[in-house]
Amino acid sequence: MIKTNILFVCLGNICRSPAAEAVMQKIVDEHGASDTIKLDSAGTSAYHAGETSDSRMMDHAQRRQVDITSISRQFIEADFKRFDKIIIMDGSNYTNVLRLDMSGQYKHKIHYMTEYCSDKFSSYTEVPDPYFGGEDGFEIVLDLLDDACRALFNSLK
Ligand code: 4NP
Repeated sequence: MIKTNILFVCLGNICRSPAAEAVMQKIVDEHGASDTIKLDSAGTSAYHAGETSDSRMMDHAQRRQVDITSISRQFIEADFKRFDKIIIMDGSNYTNVLRLDMSGQYKHKIHYMTEYCSDKFSSYTEVPDPYFGGEDGFEIVLDLLDDACRALFNSLK
């Protein structure tokens, strides 16, 4: 396996992208691939910079033995060089990340998380933001992330 650095990106970096990072880390660890696949997450905003993740997301993840330990930080231009793949959760993340790539030279590194979903989640073109919704939203996000991260891991082999 070729060494790969992956960054997951959402708006606040307290719900979807730290969950994606933790779900993927569990899969990477299960396959003994933590030396080759390095993960991080960031938000396009600094609204929650320095904070731990949303406690609802951490609770739902913990029930699946997924540990979310990330501290929120904002996506910065230097991330384009540091990471091989930048995986965004929705269309506004895509626009906001691309805005920092003035020349378009890193566009090929940006992928939608839902690109990796199986047919089970074919109706999703974005990872829905659970922040303002109910508890069900967190479960849907975790189900979708589990499905997509397994395919993402397999794509790296
Ligand atoms: P996330 O969710 O982008 O998945 O981390 C959100 C977190 C915070 C806010 C919006 C979405 N907010 O508006 O503070």
